Amino acid sequence: MILSLVSWKGGCGKTTSSIHFAALLASRGATMLVDEDRSRNASNWAARGAAVLPFKAYPPRALGSEARRHDHIVIDTRGGLEDQDLIDLYDNSDLVVVPAVAESMTLEALVNTANTLRTHGRDLSKLRVLFTMARRPAGKTDKVAEGKAAVSELGIHTLSATVRATEAFKDACDAGRLVRDTRNPVGKLAWMDYERAFKELGL
Ligand SMILES: Nc1ncnc2c1ncn2[C@@H]1O[C@H](COP(=O)(O)OP(=O)(O)O)[C@@H](O)[C@H]1O
Ligand SMILES: [Mg+2]
Repeated sequence: MILSLVSWKGGCGKTTSSIHFAALLASRGATMLVDEDRSRNASNWAARGAAVLPFKAYPPRALGSEARRHDHIVIDTRGGLEDQDLIDLYDNSDLVVVPAVAESMTLEALVNTANTLRTHGRDLSKLRVLFTMARRPAGKTDKVAEGKAAVSELGIHTLSATVRATEAFKDACDAGRLVRDTRNPVGKLAWMDYERAFKELGL
């Protein structure tokens, strides 16, 4: 199983989602995380957590030798892939999760991604949008619900599970841990958000 994390924008939760989906996949079989972002955020997170995380992160050049030793591969990418890189990744993945924050720029970016795929003759069946950093609705406006509706209108599958906004993710990153293993009590709930999202992926 190859699960890729992609988004046009940076800072929407690709690396955080890669780490948590890799941990969830690791309970099913040997899992490697491939860090395709030159910033090496995922590699550094995994290196800090080498003693406790149930998977390791590798650079792309390790795929050739390591892929056969693993049942599952999670690919973390940098924001704003070139069209051809996006197509290659899409063709070589079983599922592509797009983490998104509910705001208008997200939608514009998703339209671009969807158009690129369609222009190159791909359907959008492998895409799954996951809303991250979700805040409780303020008053009558529920931005996540609006975002989900807008994404569905584009013909892209949206996960009904969303990942809540919490500082626990920053603590987890700093400590090289999973969010459930931080001292922040919200961390357990945030982990359950990823569990729900993972279940919905139906892997
Ligand atoms: N659900 C969340 N709630 C709050 N902060 C988050 C959440 N997910 C990620 N973050 C934080 O947002 C920043 C960007 O997340 P990251 O996973 O690195 O995104 P990307 O890989 O898409 O650039 C990081 O500081 C991370 O700790
Ligand atoms: Mg990243």
